Amino acid sequence: MGQQAQPPPYVRARIEVLRKIREQEQRIAENMKRIRYKIAVLSGKGGVGKSFVTASLAFALANMGRRVGVLDVDIHGPSIPKMMGVEGQQPEAKAPDRIVPVTAPLGVKVMSIALMLPDARTPVIWRGPVKTSFIRELLAYTDWGELDYLLVDLPPGTGDEQLTVVQLVRNLTGVIVVTIPSQVSKYVVVKAISFAEKLGTRVLGIVENMSYFVCPDGSRHYIFGQGVGEELAREYGVPLLARIPLDPRISRAADEGVPFFLKYPDSPAAREILELARRLASSVEADG
Ligand SMILES: Nc1ncnc2c1ncn2[C@@H]1O[C@H](COP(=O)(O)OP(=O)(O)OP(=O)(O)O)[C@@H](O)[C@H]1O
Ligand SMILES: [Mg+2]
Repeated sequence: MGQQAQPPPYVRARIEVLRKIREQEQRIAENMKRIRYKIAVLSGKGGVGKSFVTASLAFALANMGRRVGVLDVDIHGPSIPKMMGVEGQQPEAKAPDRIVPVTAPLGVKVMSIALMLPDARTPVIWRGPVKTSFIRELLAYTDWGELDYLLVDLPPGTGDEQLTVVQLVRNLTGVIVVTIPSQVSKYVVVKAISFAEKLGTRVLGIVENMSYFVCPDGSRHYIFGQGVGEELAREYGVPLLARIPLDPRISRAADEGVPFFLKYPDSPAAREILELARRLASSVEADG
């Protein structure tokens, strides 16, 4: 009997890569079974407060007694560790394929590329395929344990990171879409909503951030415009989950990495954040 010919090395290498991807996807499916609700926060538009909404929602859900994790998938501009007060901490690698997230205030577990970089100034200069592999590894090897909620903070846009998360987290509960009340924001945000719809992902609701500013005399000023959150909610038949005002103390709390609603519990923004968490929880938890 002649010896069976071995495939050439480049084919063997390719087979090995595909085997690894399959193995990681299986691990992701197993990890995700231990998390009840998986929610991604996206916008399309940059700088509208996605990370702030993700961090605040995570803290507020934890404050309601839920077990919460935050996965920061913003590879080029990660801001979750700073906003959630865990900058400089390092996730513990129990094994090369088992990494334990760090713990933020109120017991929220956090994982981010920023926690693995040598220092805050180091940029990540990667093309799409490398980012996709990295996100797959993060999802496969992060040991979240049992969670009620995993919130995924996405970068602006509808590209590699967003697609990778939606494709790999197969039973994503849905997405929350963040906008500011300007028509320019709406113009971009509708693309994110269409992206979610095209991929068969449920839009759980809209959060309008930076909705208005309340002057010390009590008058309201609509700095970026008015009504965009309501328009989007009506046009797409989804709930408007919150209208969070502009408040300079939000930016300061985020810079300090402390939960805003704990520091300023009587502010209108804090009430909106807590209401957002209550609305979201009662909506997704009612569905099972
Ligand atoms: N309602 C608000 N009032 C005041 N400041 C806010 C408010 N929401 C967010 N901010 C601040 O605005 C800045 C941008 O917010 P954030 O980083 O959450 O936006 P983003 O959408 O995640 O941005 P990127 O697109 O870069 O990921 C931050 O400094 C944040 O603290
Ligand atoms: Mg962000």
